Amino acid sequence: MNAFKLEQVGAVKSGKPVLESLDWCIEDGRISTILGPSGSGKTSLLRLLNRLDDPASGQVIYKDKPISSWDVCVLRREVGMAFQRPELFEGTVEDNLRFGPALHDIHIDIEEMMALVGLDRGMLKQEARCLSGGEAQKVSIGRAISVGPKVLLLDEPTSGLDPTACLQIEQLVKRLVKTLGLTCIFVTHFIEQAKRMGDAAILLIDGRKVEEGPMSEFLNHPQDPRTLQFIRGELK
Ligand SMILES: Nc1ncnc2c1ncn2[C@@H]1O[C@H](COP(=O)(O)OP(=O)(O)OP(=O)(O)O)[C@@H](O)[C@H]1O
Ligand SMILES: [Mg+2]
Repeated sequence: MNAFKLEQVGAVKSGKPVLESLDWCIEDGRISTILGPSGSGKTSLLRLLNRLDDPASGQVIYKDKPISSWDVCVLRREVGMAFQRPELFEGTVEDNLRFGPALHDIHIDIEEMMALVGLDRGMLKQEARCLSGGEAQKVSIGRAISVGPKVLLLDEPTSGLDPTACLQIEQLVKRLVKTLGLTCIFVTHFIEQAKRMGDAAILLIDGRKVEEGPMSEFLNHPQDPRTLQFIRGELK
């Protein structure tokens, strides 16, 4: 089944087209990676999936219903997002993790939540602004899943992290997808990371889809010469 279906989607920013005629189906319960060079439209695409932005043309379908017909609050509870630079609220780790559930009147087991994202419960009272990059990203992902979403949107969640922290976040995401049955859309511009993470991939260049498919097909039988260039690291 598809979590999302994009039909002829176009997006415009400051009068400039940033996505054009994009068709894409995103399968349920999988990790789909969005790949592409800097400025190719990866973040612009991700932002359409929880209505941080709306398309200028075409439509995005979420669970068989146009995304524009979903109540935004309900949609954002189902479709959580964590960004490249975790923007944590002022206060402690616990404050950050309790914020969403309090807003939606949901009970959470805070210690279970810490264990789920791989943080020591001794850190609950720590000020969020004092965390390392990797710890902050775990809290940010924890905050995204704290309201029980079905989908997790991740925009280059490991950029700027050292290799160990990067690997920890990758493993965390895989574990969450498996244990919570999430659908994850993971933006990266590193083909090696996409290989490690993704069940499927889409490659964007200049706001247009170049190629998409299951990861093994994408890697082993690319149809477009630009995909091969991207895989070889020749397309930056
Ligand atoms: N708010 C904005 N106003 C004007 N142009 C924008 C805005 N946001 C993005 N763009 C432009 O849209 C295009 C796509 O940007 P986007 O951030 O989606 O790319 P990206 O693939 O995520 O890049 P990166 O890998 O650097 O994060 C770029 O040319 C960018 O300059
Ligand atoms: Mg981006």
